[in-house]
Parts: sequence; structure tokens; C-alpha cells
Amino acid sequence: MLCLGIESTAHTFGISIVNDKGKKVLSNIISAYKTKTGGIVPSRVADHHVEAVKPVLRRALDQARIKPDEIDLVAFSQGPGIGHTLRIGAGLGRSLAILLGKPLIGVNHCIAHLEVGRFLTKADDPVLLYVSGANTQVIAYEAGRYRVFGETLDLGVGNFLDSFARQLGLGFPGGPRVEAFARKSTKYIKLPYSVKGMDISLGGLDTNLKQKIKSGKYSKSDLCFSVQETVFAMLVEVAERAMAHTGKNELLLGGGVACNKRLQEMCRVMTKERGGKTFILPNEFLVDNAAMIAITGLEMYKAGMSTNLKDAGIKPYERTDDVKVEWR
Ligand code: ATP
Ligand code: FE2
Repeated sequence: MLCLGIESTAHTFGISIVNDKGKKVLSNIISAYKTKTGGIVPSRVADHHVEAVKPVLRRALDQARIKPDEIDLVAFSQGPGIGHTLRIGAGLGRSLAILLGKPLIGVNHCIAHLEVGRFLTKADDPVLLYVSGANTQVIAYEAGRYRVFGETLDLGVGNFLDSFARQLGLGFPGGPRVEAFARKSTKYIKLPYSVKGMDISLGGLDTNLKQKIKSGKYSKSDLCFSVQETVFAMLVEVAERAMAHTGKNELLLGGGVACNKRLQEMCRVMTKERGGKTFILPNEFLVDNAAMIAITGLEMYKAGMSTNLKDAGIKPYERTDDVKVEWR
């Protein structure tokens, strides 16, 4: 069965075609809206997505070597996300489903970050550490739902790294630049560490770093190294606590920050010590992408789920545990 998936919750517009036979991702094309600072004006991002529709769709079909009428199912990211941008994907999804006369399915973006790991790796029932720009959550399946066991109480870790990098004058996106500078140092500067149960908080650290940068007393690479060690230790601690709480021994990473090699290494060490395993997807499936939407759509559809056209509006505030998981 061939599913065309559409992603448009935030900066990234993507279209992917996935064949559930042989678990093949035939194409996974993205076009990400970029600015120098990372600031986001919703209507401008929506304009970017509108312009991206034609070339991204063309490339997704060409690369997969399929014709539109071969598609069996259309999946789109229904929420959570930015209303302006979600609407572009939802409109395209409805139009394609009507035009092709094929079923439509609305997918939760956060759940898709987990389902892509279950589909493409050997992970069966992992705890997901979802770390992107706006999102920092620890998600796992329990009693018929995906539940958020822990999250950030203030800043998302990607946005935090971007803001820190901007203060240091490293540019945007900050995460990869912080990672590069961190590699040049092993000198740890003591920083505030804030874990509350299974939640983390980055606001205090953000303020502390602003003062440290202003003082001019610390080198960029020492600060980057120390920030990574501190923040990633917080993430690993809450992930481990969620694993212990749910009795699961698989950890899956998702979101742009999960591309970070030091975070991946720290997760691997933690799960190894617990007798468990960390599963890491290639970067194209960690960042926002449409393959994960197509994959989740396929799983949902095969379990008998689909979305009526009248229910195919966007859900900008949909919570992870709002979704009744009928496909597991
Ligand atoms: P969402 O809307 O789901 O929060 P997003 O639009 O922020 O997602 P992603 O591609 O998932 O998109 O994540 C982008 C974030 O990932 C940015 O904040 C960026 O700095 C961060 N990032 C990317 N690569 C790395 C890296 N190697 N190390 C740390 N952070 C990284
Ligand atoms: Fe995401």
C-alpha cells in the first residue's frame, strides 16, 4: 500500500511517499523555511509552504517513481503546530484525497516522531525523547494512549540552544554550532541544573548564561561544552526516570536536537547501563519530515481508522494523549 504523507506543523514543509510493503520510504522531500535569526512570522512561513507545494510534490513523486493515481492513502499532520502553516498541509491533503478519490487520515505530529522509529528500527515499545525547537517531551505508550511523562516547564531545548548561540554570536541554527564549539573543549564550567521529577526547566540556566557571556570571562568553547554536558544530563536523567517508571528498556530519539552526537552518546551509555538500548534514526527522520506522517497514517489506516473530510480541519492544540491509539 502506498501512502503520500504531508508535514507542515512549523518551519518545515515536506512530502513523502512510503510503501508499507518492505517498509520502504520511496521519497522524503523537505523544504525548510530559514531566517538568519530563527525568528518566525507565521504568515511568512505559510507563504513559503504555499510556494513549496509544487516543487516538493513533484520531487516526491519523481523520486518515488510513482504516478499520483497509484497512491492509496493521503496522510497529513493535523496538529499540534502553527495554525497558519498547518492549514497549508491540511488543505493540500483534502484536495489530493478528493482529486484522487482516496482515503484521508489526520496524524498527530508528536506521535509520528515515535511511530517512525517503531517502523524503521527494531524498537518495539520505546520511550521517546522528543527534543526539537519548541518541543521537549518524554513520551511513551501506556494503557491505550501515548502519554507525556515529562516535559520542559519553560523553554524547548532547541529554542534554548538557538538563543544561547545567538547570544554568543554563533548564528542560527544554534544547535549544530554549539556542538562544533563544544568539541574543542573539555573544561566544565559549573552551571545550574534543574530537574523536577520527570520535568526540566531551562529558564534559570538561560539567565545565568546571559550573565556569564556578558562578563566576558569564559571562552565560547568552554561554555558550549558545559551547556551540552548540563542540558543533556538533564534530558538523560528524565528519560531514564520515565524508563524506570514505565518499565521499558528501549529509548528512541526524535526531533532536531537528537541529531547531536554527544546527546546520542550519553543516551547510549545510560541505556547500556540499564541493560537496554538506544535507537537512533538517520537525521532525515529525526528532524521534522513527512515520512513519519505517511508511516503513522499507514499504521492508523490498516487498523481501520480514517478521517472524514468534515473532520479534517487542523488541530493546533492537539495533545499527545488526546489521540486514541487504535493501531497498537
Ligand atoms: P518543532 O516545531 O517540532 O519543535 P522545529 O521546527 O524546531 O520543530 P526540528 O528540525 O525538529 O524543527 O529541530 C530544530 C532544532 O534542532 C533547532 O533548534 C536546532 O538548533 C536543533 N538542532 C539541529 N541540529 C542540532 C545538533 N546537532 N545539536 C543540537 N541541536 C540541533
Ligand atoms: Fe517535530
